[in-house]
Amino acid sequence: MSDRRIWIRGGRILDPAAERDESGDVLIEGGVIAATGAGLDARGAEVIDANGAWIAPGFVDLHSHLREPGQEYKEDIASGGRSAVAGGFAAVACMANTQPVNDDPAMTDFILDRATQDSPARVYPIAAATRGLEGVVMTEMSALVGAGAVAFSDDGKTIMDGGVMRHVLEYSRLVSVPVITHGEDRYLVANGVVNEGPVSTKLGLPGNPAVAEEILVVRDLILAELTGAHLHVAHVSTRGAVAAIRQARDRGVHVTAEVTPHHLTLTDEAVLGYDTNAKVSPPLRSAADVRACREGLVDGTIDAIATDHAPHAVHEKDLEFTVAPPGLIGFETAFPVVLDLVRNSELSPLELVRRLSTNPARILKRPGGSLEVGAPADVAILDPDTSWTYDPAKGYSKSRNSPWAGWTLTGRAIATIVGGRLVYHVERGVLYP
Ligand code: DOR
Repeated sequence: MSDRRIWIRGGRILDPAAERDESGDVLIEGGVIAATGAGLDARGAEVIDANGAWIAPGFVDLHSHLREPGQEYKEDIASGGRSAVAGGFAAVACMANTQPVNDDPAMTDFILDRATQDSPARVYPIAAATRGLEGVVMTEMSALVGAGAVAFSDDGKTIMDGGVMRHVLEYSRLVSVPVITHGEDRYLVANGVVNEGPVSTKLGLPGNPAVAEEILVVRDLILAELTGAHLHVAHVSTRGAVAAIRQARDRGVHVTAEVTPHHLTLTDEAVLGYDTNAKVSPPLRSAADVRACREGLVDGTIDAIATDHAPHAVHEKDLEFTVAPPGLIGFETAFPVVLDLVRNSELSPLELVRRLSTNPARILKRPGGSLEVGAPADVAILDPDTSWTYDPAKGYSKSRNSPWAGWTLTGRAIATIVGGRLVYHVERGVLYP
């Protein structure tokens, strides 16, 4: 929280929580939104010029890997938090596949402590659903939620035992947090590293079939229906999974879902040159799958865009395709990449912002995603028109693994405010801590 007064002057206010899309100013005071509209009295306040820019609630990322503790050579909470605010994210949820795993309240505590000291973005720890992510013994859910965990997930690994998943879902109801599923049947994935289809054949690489995702997502939807729990489906990548989620919603299952910027815009053809920076889990899919993910995001089947920011070191990615680890960094490129949906007239600016902030905040039951007076002043100021060349080496992540390296992107976060404090400005860099 900050006592500073900030006057964001003359932008396009996009506040999905209030269904509001209009020109005006935003005044921040005492860490909250103090006023919005035209003709504000803001003498003495620090001015941020938002002429030609969007003023939106700070983005909330449901899915990231900050790698601390244990793999700080890839990322840590400080560098991840800096990279997040440089992309317009005011808050990021971080997955439990750290080393050691976040399966213990002391670890959740540690992550939150580090975040308070080191990160300009808010950090929401997601705890493991099973000890060591081994899919066998459930974690102590109420103690983890007591320590600050916002959800449970064995992301990166699927809970293959349906009985264990059922119990995880049942217990999650008692603590009222979602269970996030990484829906891939490990046996169907086998050693697949790219989408199974013409591209895997052409490359001579083992394929990961779409049905591996579809079968597990369907299983988890049925278990969510049985238990009444809140299931959140991570990184949806297939047409079949989108259809299954749509049907489940229609019959009243408590399900939410996310899709990544890469699964919305890149096909498996991005790996044709064996670019390991385009190797992700789940893999980039066919054009038909990408289309279905976009349609799902537009019609509300998929609630949110989440980056799955997954840093890996250069020496790890600089290996044969089959052995390089899956994952790409995504905080600083998410906004320009997904702006494609606005440019293509699939989503309005307001609806895009809803999927980047309001919906993810709602799924995690955290504040944010709103510019209403009195709301915490988490704000992203975004220039949708500026073009720039992305060089990961000039970004804030410790890692460089991006398939968009060297691309000219259009759209950029120009300032990010968290709790009333200006933490990032495109010309001044990260300003706090
Ligand atoms: O591409 C991915 N990378 N997908 C995951 O599920 C895990 C992640 C990681 O931790 O690197």
